[in-house]
Amino acid sequence: MGIIYHQNTQELHLFNSELSYIIKIQKNGGLMNLYYGKRIHDKEDFGYLQPQASRPLTVYESPGNSGYSLQYIRREYPDYGRGDFRTPAYLIRQENGSRITAFSYDSHKIYRGKKKLEGLPATYAENDEDADTLEIRLTDAVTNAVIVLSYTIFNKLPVIARHVQLINGGTQNLVLERALSASIDLPDSDYEMVYLTGAWARERHVRTRKLDHGISSIGSIRGASSAEYNPFFALKRPAATEDTGEVYGFCFIYSGNHLEQAEVDTDQNCRVSIGIHPDTFEWALTPGETFVTPEAVFVYTDYGLNAMSQTFHCLFKEHLMQSTWKDRQRPVLINNWEATEMDFTENKILDIATAAKDLGIELFVLDDGWFGGREDDTKGLGDWFVTNFDKLPEGIEGLSAKITDLGLQFGLWFEPEMVNPGTKLYDEHPDWILCPAERTPSPGRNQYVLDFTRDEVVDYIYDLMEKVLSGAHISYVKWDMNRYITECYSTGTPALSQGKTFHKYILGVYRLYEKLTLRFPDILFESCASGGARFDPGILYYAPQAWTSDDTDAVERIKIQYGTSLVYPVSSMGAHVSQVPNQQTGRCTPLKTRGDVAMFGAFGYELDITALDKEEKTAVKEQITFVKKHRLLLQHGTFYRLKSPFRENAAAWMMVSPDRTEAIAAYYNLLGTPNCRFDRLFLRGLDPDRKYHMNGSTEVYYGDELMYAGIPIPHTGVCESNVDFSSFVFYLSAL
Ligand code: GLA
Repeated sequence: MGIIYHQNTQELHLFNSELSYIIKIQKNGGLMNLYYGKRIHDKEDFGYLQPQASRPLTVYESPGNSGYSLQYIRREYPDYGRGDFRTPAYLIRQENGSRITAFSYDSHKIYRGKKKLEGLPATYAENDEDADTLEIRLTDAVTNAVIVLSYTIFNKLPVIARHVQLINGGTQNLVLERALSASIDLPDSDYEMVYLTGAWARERHVRTRKLDHGISSIGSIRGASSAEYNPFFALKRPAATEDTGEVYGFCFIYSGNHLEQAEVDTDQNCRVSIGIHPDTFEWALTPGETFVTPEAVFVYTDYGLNAMSQTFHCLFKEHLMQSTWKDRQRPVLINNWEATEMDFTENKILDIATAAKDLGIELFVLDDGWFGGREDDTKGLGDWFVTNFDKLPEGIEGLSAKITDLGLQFGLWFEPEMVNPGTKLYDEHPDWILCPAERTPSPGRNQYVLDFTRDEVVDYIYDLMEKVLSGAHISYVKWDMNRYITECYSTGTPALSQGKTFHKYILGVYRLYEKLTLRFPDILFESCASGGARFDPGILYYAPQAWTSDDTDAVERIKIQYGTSLVYPVSSMGAHVSQVPNQQTGRCTPLKTRGDVAMFGAFGYELDITALDKEEKTAVKEQITFVKKHRLLLQHGTFYRLKSPFRENAAAWMMVSPDRTEAIAAYYNLLGTPNCRFDRLFLRGLDPDRKYHMNGSTEVYYGDELMYAGIPIPHTGVCESNVDFSSFVFYLSAL
């Protein structure tokens, strides 16, 4: 396992038990990818995999070297302008206006473990034995610029993590117009691209399209990873399913503007490009300076989409999340937002908390509306202290003491990156928002974006938050972000560096997260962005869970959580039972179904629990008891998608314990159909030879029969229409 360098052939083979990745250093110093896919035996020479062709209309790399053209070879970190007409990974503008560079191999090193990416979230290897790293150093003789490509292969996961350092080693000023994190050329294009798109309240729906000549691309230029396009895509073979077939997964560990793209040329090669979106990026690099890209991760499997997702889940939980909460069971919480919005009193909050405690809830979260003049969403953001003592007579300190006296933990909402006009912050520092002074900033939810590229702004917000968090009994923080970025201009920054603003903004967000999570290592952070508009691996590094969506309707949530599960672990998805009719869709779904959906997540409630009747309270108590009993399995088991709500009128998924002695599966009916089909649910991940009991009955089922013969889904009757949105949960325990 690891990385082998074959000196004679100048080939580098990265491999573990599941994948191989082979790079060749060419005679001219260029880097070529010979293979990326299922593990193959190591040997000295795979050079025959390099295409050699002399064809009309082709530009050759050097005189007398026909047959070798950058147009055809599969490259590792391609430039533009010397014969390769596909999307480049980088562009460096020089003082004479030229963007032509010719980097060639200088040296490489191989070492155990993985280095930290300073200031950026990235995967890590806690023990050096968990991963091996290859760094290849390339130089450009004209500019003396240096590029260092880093590849880390994880030993127990089919994952390669890549990032790049671009160093100005010369004497002239350089400008990076594009600096992607990774590029890879695959030798054919017979793939479907699977990706996650959406909008507010319908985040991360699964889409699939066949690749064809031209570019298939997704990305964001909104200043956040966005609800619209998640920084992930997979290339799957058309015949691949959830359980079989080749899948290449790509994910970008970043929360700002991003680009993920597959370009198929007319020879059917497929170039994958991942990185910071070049349209909103430019980075001036003076002599001696270095730019470090965020990290991209590649997953390879030939066991289908479920295996890809399980790999991402493991990678994020074991090698990305930093929080002390990463593998802990998450408290059952109640959040007051849908119950009261900003219109609450301390008494109302204590009533909700008291009722919640009675039902077994463990954490009370006070959402928006507790600080400054926050009566509505036109006021208050930026003033992170209590000024309205009619609402909270003893401030957060007093309220948190009362809540903890009830035996509950206490959590609090912040939106650190934003400011409303009319606040103390805005009055004292009107220039602390992103916008050129001569322009009018465009409001979004009546608020402006603070200039987090400036250290003094981040430090100011840190001081306010630190004071609240250290002065009260707070064990959870919900960190919200409720608008995208416009007029992205930083007043403190010189003209030539304005192209850095979007990236430096996100670095500022990361810096604040880093400072707060270091200062308060035991606080559970949940990120949020108008629901799930910044649900990405970058934020997961700091906050191990995220509010999945403002849409709490059970049917919508099935789709959202199903899509989210393609990349993100169940424990990272905040999922709450809310009231009906649902506030976002007006739909009424049974309390049971709402609970059965939310329990596959960081579980909680978001409704006025004091308004429930006796029967509902009993049902809630039972839900909470069930979740607590099986919480480890529900949040940290191995997740399988079984039935897609994007293809069928039903959905199903399940969790299996690591030793396969326990599993919980759920089947959700979407719309009821009269005279419906007799559906069966085929489970996954069980031990075929073991006997299981189902839902406490004495009947015995073998693992193989549950997986291959399936469980018949109960149904109520031929003409009953009241089965809309019904759900069934199957708990299996090995004998
Ligand atoms: C966003 C969040 C909600 C809630 C409100 C408060 O929309 O997604 O959960 O916190 O803000 O203003």
